[in-house]
Parts: sequence; structure tokens; C-alpha cells
Amino acid sequence: MADLRYFCQSIPKIELHAHLNGCIRSSTFRQLLTSSDDQIRLDTLDKNFSSGDTHSRMANVFEKFALLRSCVTNLDDIRRITRETLEDFIDDNVMYVELRTRPRSFDNGKIPSSNYIEAIIEIIKEYEEKICSRLILSIDRTQTLEQAMETLKLAEKYRTYVVGLDLSGDPNIKSFERFLPVFNLAKDRNLSTTIHIGELPDEECLNENNLIINYKPTRLGHFNFRTNEQEQRVIKEKIPLELCPTSNLLTMKLTNLTEHHFNLFYKNKHPLAICTDDSGLMNCCLSSEIFDLVQTFNLTKQEIYDFMLQTCNLIFDKNMIDFCQKKLKDFFLKQ
Ligand code: IMP
Ligand code: ZN
Repeated sequence: MADLRYFCQSIPKIELHAHLNGCIRSSTFRQLLTSSDDQIRLDTLDKNFSSGDTHSRMANVFEKFALLRSCVTNLDDIRRITRETLEDFIDDNVMYVELRTRPRSFDNGKIPSSNYIEAIIEIIKEYEEKICSRLILSIDRTQTLEQAMETLKLAEKYRTYVVGLDLSGDPNIKSFERFLPVFNLAKDRNLSTTIHIGELPDEECLNENNLIINYKPTRLGHFNFRTNEQEQRVIKEKIPLELCPTSNLLTMKLTNLTEHHFNLFYKNKHPLAICTDDSGLMNCCLSSEIFDLVQTFNLTKQEIYDFMLQTCNLIFDKNMIDFCQKKLKDFFLKQ
């Protein structure tokens, strides 16, 4: 097993679902807090994750997201967080990462969200030799259609590094329908899309799943709760899935990974990516996410390698597929 763990650690990897501000190291979060109510904020973040039903678990996770967001107040903070996130991925032998983030302005709009994106791109360039990084811009479920349209414009402006649009945020807010015009435009303009889907076990969520599947985004995130019919459609239409085991376990109330939907889709040879979602907040890394599944479902080194090769096909920057597959092949030949 130690050998397999080492293999998962050293194989070149691809990360396709990582929220930038969810990757903040907890040590950094502590250093960024400076105001007088910081002890309260620290205490809230330190509280264990809720172990109730999915709705209360989700509410708890989003309380922590609000705290993380509140500690990032300027461009230097975001440069630091990007730098540390890339260093953590490099240490874990990630060769290609798609970071996603919701653009934000600082100082009541005096520092516009374009500066936020430029600050991240500046760091991405700094690390280019060590890791290939691309950006996905997130639309938050609470935003207005106008704000979402702004995000699409920003994505187009920074197209060399921005490779797609994401829909994320509190899944209690069912806003995909509202944003459909923006996602349709993204499709018209050849911008890839990824949508968080099926995060809550309720009827409204299952209804929204249908709208999202009808739209057919380039990839789907999570798909934890779904009907059999929705499952079959996604399999038949081969819509790739981004699965995040630690995050899913945290919100889904599963006993362990044997109950995770990875198995079902893997057995169907469905296009899949294993991802971390929020590595800082959830204290996980990509190699351990992969190793935990490998151990649970008894995958061999050959199967891990084949799995990683197919994940390469799912990256949004198609120019980088050959590069990633070659790195993987070179690695495996040396085993
Ligand atoms: P940011 O966009 O860089 O600020 O990344 C953090 C944000 O990502 C959080 O505030 C959430 O809105 C979003 N996020 C992270 N994980 C999840 C998830 O599992 N479901 C939905 N939204 C998420
Ligand atoms: Zn996510």
C-alpha cells in the first residue's frame, strides 16, 4: 500500500476543480486576520464541520466560505494565495491546474475585478515553468444576470488564460435558469462551461438538474444527488464529471467512500476527473483524493495510469492535452 500511495503522489496529475479561495492554507488565513473581532472568526472556522443532514452541512461549509472571503481584502492577498496554492499543487506533482474563482473588486470598486484577474494571471505566469495553470471564472448563484454578463465579458477579455465559466455558490439558490442567457452566449463564443449540479437532496435541486443537463455544459461538478433517469442521460451523453471525494463525503452524509458514486461512473467507463474542490478548507490534496479511491476500489497502477490519461482529454485548454499525456507516458515508462 505504501508503494501505491507513493505512486499516486509521484504520478503527474491534473486538477480541474479547485476554488481559489477554498485553497487558502489555514496558516495563511490566520495571518490575514487582523481586526478586533478576529477571535470570533477564528473560532467559527475552527469549529468542526457539521455532521447533520446535507442541508445543515452545506450551511456550515458556506459559513466558512464567507469567513475565508472576508479575510482577503487586497490584491497582495490574492497574489499570495495564488502563489501558495500553486506551490502546494507543485509539491503534489500536479502538472496542469484549472483554478476557478469569482472575480471581485476591492476598495468599494476603486480596484476593479479586472485587476483581481490580472493579479492572478501575473502569478500564473511566474510559475509557468513549474505548472501549467489556467483560469475558470465563477458566477456565484447569488449574483444578478448583469453581474454574470460582466464575468462573461471578463472571460473573453483574458481569453489566453481564462478557459471557461463556472456556476457555483450556495446550492439552495436555484439560479441556473436565470443565468441561461449568459451560458448560452458562452457556448456561442466557444467558451467551455462547468456547472455545479445535484448538491442537495431536494426536489428543487433535482428539477434544476434537468435544466442543467438539457443545457449540456462541457463538464459537470459533483452530481451527488440525481434521479436514475438523469444519471442515465449523463452517461449516455458522456458529459464528463468532476468528482471531489473529501468534499462530497463532507456534504453527502456517506458512511465511507464505498458508497461514493465514483464507482458507478467508473464501471461505466464514464469520463471522469478526480479533484479537490477546496483543498485548504477541507485539508486535502489531490494525491490523497486519488489514493483513497484507489484503495477503496482496488485499482492497479495500470488502471490509475489509464484513468489519468483519459482525464487529460477533459481539460479545457485543448492545446495542453498532448503535453499532459506525454508527461504521463514518460512517467509510466520509467516505472
Ligand atoms: P472563490 O470563488 O475563489 O472565492 O472560491 C470560494 C468560493 O467557491 C466559495 O465562496 C463558494 O461560493 C464556491 N465553492 C467552493 N466549493 C463549493 C462547492 O462545493 N459548491 C458550491 N460552491 C462552492
Ligand atoms: Zn466546487
